[in-house]
Amino acid sequence: MERYKEDSSQFWEDIYLANNAGWDLGGPTPVFQKLSETMSAGKICILGCGKGHDAVEFSQKGFEVTAVDFSKTAVHNLKTLALARNVPVSVIQDDIFSLTPKYRNSFDYILEQTCFCAINPNRRIEYEKLVFSLLKYSGKLIGLWFPLDKSREEGGPPYGTKVDEVKSIFSSPWKIEVEEFSDLSIKTRKGREKLIIFKKENNE
Ligand SMILES: C[S@@+](CC[C@H](N)C(=O)[O-])C[C@H]1O[C@@H](n2cnc3c(N)ncnc32)[C@H](O)[C@@H]1O
Repeated sequence: MERYKEDSSQFWEDIYLANNAGWDLGGPTPVFQKLSETMSAGKICILGCGKGHDAVEFSQKGFEVTAVDFSKTAVHNLKTLALARNVPVSVIQDDIFSLTPKYRNSFDYILEQTCFCAINPNRRIEYEKLVFSLLKYSGKLIGLWFPLDKSREEGGPPYGTKVDEVKSIFSSPWKIEVEEFSDLSIKTRKGREKLIIFKKENNE
């Protein structure tokens, strides 16, 4: 199988070590924060969780959180934060693509923010299969799909993401539950990210 530069944990580790993680919001994502207040608590998995602000936020709201990232520095940051806030988070420092078969049908929710655009576009179908496998029947993929204003040809990461492509990848047996440009998107991402929640409709 072809390997891409961004398949290597060191690629991401170097960015964290250089203090160049421009994607990091420095706190929980407002769109997710609001959602967490209305969602029923359950088992949630955060793929490519970064420094873990959302992981800690969901744990504080009573969710059972599993957070996955293969960067040592990102995971260290998350563990430190969880300890400081005194909340449990199950932290996995590994490649997201190695979560199956161990975590098959394990989660009520998967949270996606700038992980889809971080992996190589040639792996997007693989990503869909991964998410499908990790979710329980009727589980939901909660995604802030970004960056909508970039094309794949411009390279990455982040690799350009188009709503039509996302919808075609997560088509049947997925069903769209929510699709909106949120007022709560941060200023620099307004109109450049879209909240789409997909529900897994069967277990085939
Ligand atoms: C653009 S960052 C986003 C981090 C976080 N979601 C956020 O919004 O702050 C992408 C993250 O995904 C992680 N990542 C990328 N590919 C991965 C993979 N195959 N397995 C595990 N983590 C991965 C990187 O280490 C990095 O922390």
